[in-house]
Amino acid sequence: MASVGDDPRRYAFAVWNYRQGEIVAAMIHLGHELGLYKAMAGAGPLLAGEVAARTSLDERWILEWLRLQAAAKLLDYCGDDRFQLPDAALDLLVEDDHKSFVAGEFSGPDMAGILARMTESFRTGLGNSYEDGGPEGAHRGECRHWQAARNDLIPKMIPALAGVEDKLKTGALVADIGCGDGAAVLAMAESYPNSRIVGIDPNRHAIALVETKAAEMGLENVELHHAGGEDLPAEMTYDFLLTLDCLHDMTRPAEVMAAIKRCLKDDGTWFIKDIRSKPNFEDNLRNPMLAMMYGFSLMSCMSSALSEPGGAGLGTLGFNPEVAERMIRAAGFSQFQMHDFNDAGNLYYEIRH
Ligand SMILES: C[S@@+](CC[C@H](N)C(=O)[O-])C[C@H]1O[C@@H](n2cnc3c(N)ncnc32)[C@H](O)[C@@H]1O
Repeated sequence: MASVGDDPRRYAFAVWNYRQGEIVAAMIHLGHELGLYKAMAGAGPLLAGEVAARTSLDERWILEWLRLQAAAKLLDYCGDDRFQLPDAALDLLVEDDHKSFVAGEFSGPDMAGILARMTESFRTGLGNSYEDGGPEGAHRGECRHWQAARNDLIPKMIPALAGVEDKLKTGALVADIGCGDGAAVLAMAESYPNSRIVGIDPNRHAIALVETKAAEMGLENVELHHAGGEDLPAEMTYDFLLTLDCLHDMTRPAEVMAAIKRCLKDDGTWFIKDIRSKPNFEDNLRNPMLAMMYGFSLMSCMSSALSEPGGAGLGTLGFNPEVAERMIRAAGFSQFQMHDFNDAGNLYYEIRH
């Protein structure tokens, strides 16, 4: 069998390339924090001194950073020590309200702390919940979630679910289970003022964040609960339930599905968003970002899903369509429709009793 180590030079290059990636990631973080990408946006080829004048930062440090960015192929080198930010960088590194914006997510979390906790998890088998990530963790990916809620969930996805938008416009009871930073809760509350939108999450930092934002936005149709989806009160029934990017993070997803079965009205809809993955590891290997996905799993998704003894531990790639269908049917649901929505990263399911 061919081995990944058959060519030792290539293998060494791969290892060092990850080390290089770690360093470049830290420098992308700085470029964002210091406003360097913003200062270069649309400005054409610039000298370090010109970037320094635009940012009030030190020219020599900027020149070294510019050279690193060109070496990393994130800037064009135009000759004579001039550097240019390409237009392709704008959505990803400059426009922080664009749904593709990612610069804010580089080197943000306390990596040393995460790694120390992970070392312990490898010994004990127990992971960490999202709440363990502290108040800062609740903000991670906030811009991206907000853009997805406003640009995709409200105008494209909800209208594609049979009869749901009409109910929300008229006035419906909705719960977003695992609401996280509340982007979907707030966007739905804003878009459907006649509906009552309940956000539920076991992360108290996330719930506090959504409370603050709802108050800032003057939304009076939002209700928040610090609880897991498995604790949905049985006496309340909902027209529309959502689990967005969270079933694979749960220690007891089957219990949450049982609660959803109890609490969904007879004609209600349950909408699931979860990570696009295939049942076989071999098939997933075609995904060029697969290693990153497993990193997310180890650092947060699987860790959260193993944060209680006996946790299901599905992890980032664990809720594939086969698992989804098996679990949804086992929970007693019979109507199961998959949606694509042209989203390379996620799959969607519309479920009814
Ligand atoms: C990746 S975040 C997704 C947040 C949000 N739905 C979104 O799409 O941005 C996963 C969320 O699931 C929550 N979660 C974990 N276990 C849960 C449970 N048993 N019930 C409800 N939410 C849970 C976590 O606290 C976290 O906020």
